[in-house]
Amino acid sequence: MQSILVVGGAGYIGSHMVKYLDRAGYRVVVLDNLSTGHADAVRYGELIVGDMADSELLDRLFRSHRFDAVMHFAAFSLVGESVGNPGKYYRNNVANTLNLLDAMVRHQVRHFVFSSTAATFGEPQSDRIDESHPQKPINPYGRSKLMVEHLLADYDAAYGLKSVCLRYFNAAGADPEGELGERHNPETHLIPLVLQAASGRRSHIHVFGTDYDTPDGSCLRDYIHVQDLCSAHQLALQWLQARQQSQQFNLGNGDGYSVLDVIETARTVTGQQIPVLIEDRRAGDPARLIADATFAHQHLGWKPEYPALEDMIAHAWHWEQSI
Ligand SMILES: NC(=O)c1ccc[n+]([C@@H]2O[C@H](COP(=O)([O-])OP(=O)(O)OC[C@H]3O[C@@H](n4cnc5c(N)ncnc54)[C@H](O)[C@@H]3O)[C@@H](O)[C@H]2O)c1
Repeated sequence: MQSILVVGGAGYIGSHMVKYLDRAGYRVVVLDNLSTGHADAVRYGELIVGDMADSELLDRLFRSHRFDAVMHFAAFSLVGESVGNPGKYYRNNVANTLNLLDAMVRHQVRHFVFSSTAATFGEPQSDRIDESHPQKPINPYGRSKLMVEHLLADYDAAYGLKSVCLRYFNAAGADPEGELGERHNPETHLIPLVLQAASGRRSHIHVFGTDYDTPDGSCLRDYIHVQDLCSAHQLALQWLQARQQSQQFNLGNGDGYSVLDVIETARTVTGQQIPVLIEDRRAGDPARLIADATFAHQHLGWKPEYPALEDMIAHAWHWEQSI
């Protein structure tokens, strides 16, 4: 049985990954400091509450377990906060990741799957963003993730640490079985915010800008079901183990849904009114951010199971009603 260390496994995407790995027959250990995660989201495997900044803890962990790979979800990821407090982002997302990588090198664990992001690309220069698109992030969050991508290339060259960087576009949805979902605080992601407005937890939803050059004037984003991110991670791990080659993959569905599409679909799925307040554009929001994930389809054999926005919203709605 393979053993995987999931760092940040008490968070939104990490907790789904832990369940997915458990179901796929892996032994899972979670390391999470619960800064944004939830202990009760770790329903499978073993939870160790601690920080990846703690080298002694990492040494004890790597000595007491024989890990085949590390999956790394732990980061701060609020773009606005990263602009006002960049040190917090570089310290946790870069310096603490470096600490984790050094522990892996010390203990000869050589396979690493990293949660990167579309934010490493910055302003899109094409309608769909593939792996060859220039990476020019426009905020500290995106820069912190790109720095880790560079670190990983250097750690491969120097120590033979092989990694896959998975650049997600907008993660969405919840566990199709209803056990897990998204619980960020503050919540900044559109679908949970819209569903909070549907359930009455929020009085309305703000739409920032309806004068973009898009079919309905609101911004287009590429949503990817959290379960489909999990399947991509497992395939990426298998790729690493079979090929021994570091690689980057963009993960999205290749479909752009507008903010107004999301709200309308949520009205249909939930049958609820969702009051909207139209606001001016926000600085730093590109009109469209859509992935070209052809490379992942071709090389990982990855095929999203839930590409439909309706499914993502229905699963997230089921979760929203259970909390
Ligand atoms: N959610 C998205 O749409 C999205 C898109 C692109 C990339 N990502 C990336 O995916 C990853 C997971 O995102 P998420 O939405 O699940 O975030 P999340 O905040 O729900 O999860 C992150 C987890 O990491 C833990 N953590 C943070 N710093 C830690 C540290 N120093 N030591 C131990 N644990 C620590 C937190 O407690 C939390 O449980 C992040 O790296 C994020 O940047 C997310």
